[in-house]
Amino acid sequence: MAIERPIVRPRRLRRTPALRRMVAETSVEARNLVLPVFVREGASEPVPISSMPGVVQHSRDSLRKAAAEAAEAGIGGIMLFGVPTQKDAVGSGACDPAGILNVAIADVVAEVGDALTVMSDLCLDEFTDHGHCGVLDAAGRIDNDATLEVYAEMARAQADAGVHMVGPSGMMDGQVAVIREALDGAGHEDVSILAYSAKYASAFYGPFREAVDSSLQGDRRTYQQDPANALEGVREALLDVEQGADLVMVKPGLPYLDVLRAVRDAVDVPVASYNISGEYSMLEAAAAQGWIDREPAILETLTAFRRAGADVILTYWAVEAARLLAR
Ligand code: PBG
Repeated sequence: MAIERPIVRPRRLRRTPALRRMVAETSVEARNLVLPVFVREGASEPVPISSMPGVVQHSRDSLRKAAAEAAEAGIGGIMLFGVPTQKDAVGSGACDPAGILNVAIADVVAEVGDALTVMSDLCLDEFTDHGHCGVLDAAGRIDNDATLEVYAEMARAQADAGVHMVGPSGMMDGQVAVIREALDGAGHEDVSILAYSAKYASAFYGPFREAVDSSLQGDRRTYQQDPANALEGVREALLDVEQGADLVMVKPGLPYLDVLRAVRDAVDVPVASYNISGEYSMLEAAAAQGWIDREPAILETLTAFRRAGADVILTYWAVEAARLLAR
């Protein structure tokens, strides 16, 4: 029997690197990437995070150097997380102008100015001794509206320290509206809000707990979303846009690319996604075993985010990826 010869041959467009490059539908650029960083109060040297090889808890000095390097690499921004020495039930360190996150914001802004978008996590879990993202009521439940008051104060403290963009990640209802109002009321109309809109109760945050020295009591399922739900993620994003979010985020990343696409199609603001700690550590662990080829796997991962619709990607590989892309 004669073989029927195909008329249509998609392989023609894959023939040479130049052809492939010319017709590529998506690309990753340094400007799309944001580097999350941890800064530890009182540290004189960077402290390695064992479950995230290559990532450290910075000292204030080493953070400034890392920020300068990030600016040099041409990435879009840097997202700061504080690791305080003292934690308490209400996360007092979060609102204290002398608290580690607020002083680190000022340090980084002094170092890089406007060369990077300086962002800060706006959430209590790094600062509370119980590890929850909000304050608790008398029965030990996460008290949504009492937490909003703390977020408002935290937003003002971060804006006073000079942050360009705050990232509320606590999944309290109404948080974006309250933070917008607090910022505007304090003369910080120009500080923008990156809302962690669709944030799921995920097992992939594991290494982050070590990164911020958190010993979470219980779980976050009464405020973070059920991994079974995608429509709910779209609803959360729409609510946040209505409340004044300048960008919305879907988090985690790789296990939620469908939600990312759905949110991208539903809103008219830039959409971010967070390639989180567990995703980072899985790839690093497999690469360390020689089971996958590390650099191509990193670039493929970031491409997947862009293909699914991310305008901005938070990734611990941001600076390294920017250098790989420049090669
Ligand atoms: C909450 C917050 C978390 C992460 C970023 N912001 C932890 C959580 O919600 O449990 C996780 C980031 C990562 O795993 O890389 N402040």
